[in-house]
Amino acid sequence: MNQDELKKKVAEYVLKYIPFNTIIGIGTGSTVSYFIDALSTIKHLIKGVVSSSHSSTLKLKNFGFSIYDLNKVNKIMVYIDGADEINHQLQMIKGGGAALTREKIIASVANKFICIVDKSKYVKYLGSFPLPIEVIPIACNYVINKMNKFGGICKCRNNVITENGNIIIDVYNLKIYDPIKLENSINLIDGVVTVGLFANRKADLLLIGTEYGVEKIYC
Ligand code: 5RP
Repeated sequence: MNQDELKKKVAEYVLKYIPFNTIIGIGTGSTVSYFIDALSTIKHLIKGVVSSSHSSTLKLKNFGFSIYDLNKVNKIMVYIDGADEINHQLQMIKGGGAALTREKIIASVANKFICIVDKSKYVKYLGSFPLPIEVIPIACNYVINKMNKFGGICKCRNNVITENGNIIIDVYNLKIYDPIKLENSINLIDGVVTVGLFANRKADLLLIGTEYGVEKIYC
């Protein structure tokens, strides 16, 4: 099976974890796009959704889901999202689709974060995938200078402005041995909105699509 087939497989499998009559948090990306397709088959059993991006919202609207503003919602039972990398402690790099800030907020509100990935995303150490950082535009050079002490090579993502009006700096060639420490340190740099390390708010359950079935890893 190719990567897309594995993404689709895990995106369909996660349906069995969806609580009925509640509001579901929805992430962003191609795996989530397959998940929205699958969720549409049980739309009548779902109260509504909170979405992390315009692209997910558009697709959800096309299927006729009720979209809720996060500020109008008291509780999100479950948040479903993909990841760019996830380690054995279920800490993640996210933000390949530039939606990291909204994803992190909804993940923080949710009772349970279920991460759905194909097997290529499951790694021992985070950092082979460039680490995204959402930054206020005026702080770009300042943040890049501050990032020098962590190693890695910073590059501004070309032609990308986030839905919050900010830029993305991608940090290449990191080997992340202590994700919580790095997340906390980067968050302290002035001008950083969010770093795409989800180490403090990690996933509660990981579902991995493989040729042999879906592997489940609990936190
Ligand atoms: C978007 C994300 C996505 O979850 C991540 O990029 C994975 O995407 P895909 O499912 O397309 O591989 O963090 O900001």
